[in-house]
Order: sequence, then C-alpha cells, then structure tokens
Amino acid sequence: MKYVRNCWYVAGWSTDFSDQPRRATILEENIVLYRQVSGQMVALADRCPHKSLPLSRGKVVGDNIRCGYHGLTFDCEGRCVRVPGQDNIPKSAFVRAYPLFERHGIVWIWMGDPARADETKVFDRPEFTSPEWACHHGDALHLRANYLNVADNLCDPAHVAYVHPTTLGNPESEDVPIQSEKGDDDVVVTYRWIRNAPPIGFFRKFGGFVENVDRWHYYYLYPPSTAMIDFGSSDARLNLKPEDRHQGVRILALHFLTPVNATYTIDRWMHIRNCELDDESAGERMDELFRIAFAEDKDVLEAAQLEELKANGARPVRLAIDKGANLYRGVIKSMLESEARA
Ligand code: FES
Ligand SMILES: [Fe+2]
Repeated sequence: MKYVRNCWYVAGWSTDFSDQPRRATILEENIVLYRQVSGQMVALADRCPHKSLPLSRGKVVGDNIRCGYHGLTFDCEGRCVRVPGQDNIPKSAFVRAYPLFERHGIVWIWMGDPARADETKVFDRPEFTSPEWACHHGDALHLRANYLNVADNLCDPAHVAYVHPTTLGNPESEDVPIQSEKGDDDVVVTYRWIRNAPPIGFFRKFGGFVENVDRWHYYYLYPPSTAMIDFGSSDARLNLKPEDRHQGVRILALHFLTPVNATYTIDRWMHIRNCELDDESAGERMDELFRIAFAEDKDVLEAAQLEELKANGARPVRLAIDKGANLYRGVIKSMLESEARA
C-alpha cells in the first residue's frame, strides 16, 4: 500500500520510551526507538545490516545501540561506530535514522525525506498548555482496519446515534443534516449542531445536564492522520452561537492514527476539556466512557474491514453523510500524487 510519507506520524506517548529498545512498525517499516542518556529520542531502522537481526533485540549502550548478534554498534544517526574484531568499518554498515520530535507527551516520527522534516508542521493546539483547559492522555487503540477507514469514522457524526447509543449519541441526532467543508491546509471539517434536545450520556456525567441542551460536533481531520473532535453541550436556553461554544462544556478529543500496515492501525487518543479542571480524576472518568465508545468503533470497523477485503473493490454506496470522508480521501489522493511526482 502507498502511504503519505512526508509528514509526521505518532510513534508513541513519551511514557512508552526509555533506554530499553522498543520496536514499532509504521507504514510497514520496522523501527527501533530508544532514549539517549540525555533523554533525547532515537529512531533507527530495526534491522542490522550485517545478518539482519532486529536491533531492538540488542542493547542500548550509552547513546548507541549494540546489535545482539555480533555486537555492531550504531550511533543515533545510524552510523556504525564499532565492529568487534576489526578496525575498519565497512561503508555499507549503517542504518536509516528517522527524524523525531517530542512535545506535550507525544513522540512524532517523520517517515519521509529527512531533509524535508519540518517541525513547524507538527500538530499543535494552544489548549494543550492553557490554564483554562486540562489535558489527559488516553490509550493506544489497536484496530485491524485500514487507517483510511478509521479516519472516515473520525469525520462521521452520523454513526454516533447507532454505534454509541449510551455514550456519545442519542436518537435526536439521527435526522439532523451534516455540513462538511475543506479549510486552510486541506483540513476537512464536518459539523452539526443538535439544538434543544436531551443530553447524551457523556454530558449527563460531565456537565450534569438533565434538561435539554444544544450539542455540537466539529470533526476536524488533518490529513493524513490526525483527527480532532470538538464536541460539547450547553443549556439550550442559552441558545449559544457557534463561536461562543467555549461557554459550554467542551471537549477536544484527539486521535493520532498510525498506519502499521494496510489492515492494521494504532489510534492513540487523548482529550482536552474545559470542565472539572481541578478534579484529577475527571480525565480517568472520561477515559472510561471513551473506552466504551472506542471499543464500539473498533468492533464496527474491524467487522467492516473483513467484508471490504472480501468485496474485492466493490464501490460503496455514496451518501450525503460521506462528504467529509470523500473530501479527506481526495486530499490523501492528491498528497500521494504529489509525492509520486517528486
Ligand atoms: S547481525 Fe548484527 S552484528 Fe551480526
Ligand atoms: Fe465512533
């Protein structure tokens, strides 16, 4: 499968890595990741150029990694710095090194041309560090599904009434139309407001709503594989304008999709909230609801993926609700084409 390469993907949470080598498979490439003595992250191709033992089976020695078979040792840029038993180091004794960037507890990896790695392009939001918001890292959800199908699901408000009836959806939203548009930098936004309707389970728990609320869902898809779902509720009597939605209970749910291969994706999710800022346990309690919801998505996506593989390229029925996903797929297509031309 062809992937967009000149972009940042999430390799893991900061807490996943230490001075112990750890293997990750991203875009079908095996990579070993570890921390240097300073804490700085290193990512190298996970195959020793001697007899192909994965370097992740070796040992980190200071800032370097030593192969567990015959002791070839590589530095953080993938250069071989030691060959036990001989003084000269063969020219071909090197491994590819991947640019990395770490911020807000997230480790990003650049899978394309290292010369084009641009740290200003790493996904960021002011809410990560704002005192008016609380940020909480969730889990890594492993899905046996193609990342494009997972991304479709993350710009798809229409499924929540059916897939998440107890947490994120309720029947009131079923027939409310959905808007989708492409904004700056090819970000696809899909959104709708469900006005003056009973609160969903999530906002009964967070916000304590009992009476009718206005509920919004804005699904932002940053191609190729970051999603941010801005959703929330406010008392329907306030009749909030969209631009005033920070006055309600508002959550930014972030999903960082890492394609492992054509049928396997890791979705690392976290959330930022503007409510219960002083309650440390609120993040964990939110995780519990999200875990229920995302297990429901996983169930649907994996079952659909199996049938899609069997359907042998049969064209899906096109619906109005798919506009966001179609815009997103179009952006991916043009990204792939422009990388192929380059
Ligand atoms: S396979 Fe790595 S040193 Fe021989
Ligand atoms: Fe979902």
